[in-house]
Amino acid sequence: EEQKPLHRNTEELLEKLKEEILKCKKCRLAQTRTNVVFGEGNPKANLMFVGEAPGEQEDLQGRPFVGRAGQLLTRFLNLFGIDRDRVYITNIIKCRPPKNRNPNPDEIKACYPYLEKQIEIIKPKVIICLGAFAARTILNLPEKTAISKIRGKEFNINGITVIPTFHPAYLLRNRRGESDFQKDLELGLRKAGMI
Ligand code: URA
Repeated sequence: EEQKPLHRNTEELLEKLKEEILKCKKCRLAQTRTNVVFGEGNPKANLMFVGEAPGEQEDLQGRPFVGRAGQLLTRFLNLFGIDRDRVYITNIIKCRPPKNRNPNPDEIKACYPYLEKQIEIIKPKVIICLGAFAARTILNLPEKTAISKIRGKEFNINGITVIPTFHPAYLLRNRRGESDFQKDLELGLRKAGMI
């Protein structure tokens, strides 16, 4: 009974933020994007996934992780009996960089406050960083930091457990990373109280 107004407010705040971001022109990616990819999932999620930036499919559909990498992520969640709509999924950068190039520092600087607001509204217990880019950005680590060195470790950022792991697109090329990815996912789900 107590959660209902809170829940409604969370959805409302997210919708307001989404409306704002859909109009964003803070960086040059606004000129080349098809759609802004805000993020989607359970507004009350205990577990949030943060990727790098929309790819081609995401840009076309306006939804995060709907291409091949996203389908792999969904399959891994299903392995633990978790539906994708029970978690929240978003990216550091909300618009697709042309030809999937790496985001530029000024683009990150312009876009990062949006992620911070999403985190503030959703208040996840756990954030899983998908790939080196998300991990370095959220954990403020040097640009050379290898994901293989930090994956599976638990960091605490403002009371949120942050766990870096491989990007699912990496797993499409390197199937040997799958067991580590599964382990990291299990840790995140456990810390979020979902399994
Ligand atoms: N890769 C990402 O980092 N994010 C997406 O949304 C899709 C692919």
